[in-house]
Amino acid sequence: MSRKRIGILTAGGDCPGLNAAIRGVGKTALLKYGYDIIGFSSGYLGLIRNEYKELDERALSGILTVGGTILGSSREKPFRHSEYDDYIKSKPEIIVENYKALGLDCVVCIGGNGTQKTAHKLSKLGINVVGIPKTIDNDVWGTDLTFGFDSAVTIAAEAIDRLHSTANSHKRTMVVEVMGHSAGWLTLHSGVAGGGDVILLPEIPYDLDIIAAYLNRRFKIGKPYSIVVVAEGIKLPKKASGKDRTVPAGAFIANQIRKLTGQETRETILGYIQRGGSPTARDRVVATELGAFAAEMIAAGEYGKMAAYNGYDLQAVALETVASRVKTVPIDHPLVQHARSIDTCFGDIMPG
Ligand code: F6P
Repeated sequence: MSRKRIGILTAGGDCPGLNAAIRGVGKTALLKYGYDIIGFSSGYLGLIRNEYKELDERALSGILTVGGTILGSSREKPFRHSEYDDYIKSKPEIIVENYKALGLDCVVCIGGNGTQKTAHKLSKLGINVVGIPKTIDNDVWGTDLTFGFDSAVTIAAEAIDRLHSTANSHKRTMVVEVMGHSAGWLTLHSGVAGGGDVILLPEIPYDLDIIAAYLNRRFKIGKPYSIVVVAEGIKLPKKASGKDRTVPAGAFIANQIRKLTGQETRETILGYIQRGGSPTARDRVVATELGAFAAEMIAAGEYGKMAAYNGYDLQAVALETVASRVKTVPIDHPLVQHARSIDTCFGDIMPG
């Protein structure tokens, strides 16, 4: 049997650990199974434009701790036509042609929800795909864990730690906005790790009066400052005109707290800092394990599936069940309940 030829791509928003995953899948495929490996540049764009490089042992070395992705990434969605596209054929058609012309046996798609959804669509066109879940949001359906999450939690928690001392010096209320559009995992974990007093998640509707009453009570009982951790994706009330607000969630909440409590309030938006830099030790392990497991899936011919964690165990889950779903925080999640029992306010009910 001829040796397999594997393509790897990293798509969607980047995160720490992408290179560790490329190394995990690449080295296992290359060294254990003797496969040829190529890496497509800029996510699905590379697959459309046929832009790739050979990944030999040298290319896969020295990248474990490096942030970002050596392949580059993009938010290209091959199944969505853009007005800037000037391809003579449809993008999925081009991908199928390139896949065949390159003699590929499988494409490893490392990415979040959007990436896995596209991978599933490609598999329906006859392309062998294996998915590896990454995202700082930890919101990929079908896996208990994605790599990138632990690094982002660590970065956000460290930032919140720093806000404590400056908040204390000035007796202020500090609002910090954390990434996460529809899922609040990152806000929940970094909020708990950073000792946030108020934690606002996209999944839990909040009441500004409850938040204000809670913050006033803290000052009244002698707590000199407060920390409010807000997910970027919390729902903001519409303007009086009926239009959506365009202000960042953190700025909106800080303004409202200022108005309702009179407390001196400042906001910080962590933004892309959460996606940059070297992965934590935990993310290096998670990315390596998922990568190596994905190579085993290829060896076993388990295509159309994603490498996933079920607790501490690895398993292959069908992309069909992953695509188009988002793993959000259940409102009665044990961590929410435990945080409530240490007086954390989620903005829906008054603690205590
Ligand atoms: O996918 C992770 C994420 O970091 C989200 O939390 C965030 O809203 C989004 O990506 C923004 O990414 P970009 O600006 O790169 O599209």
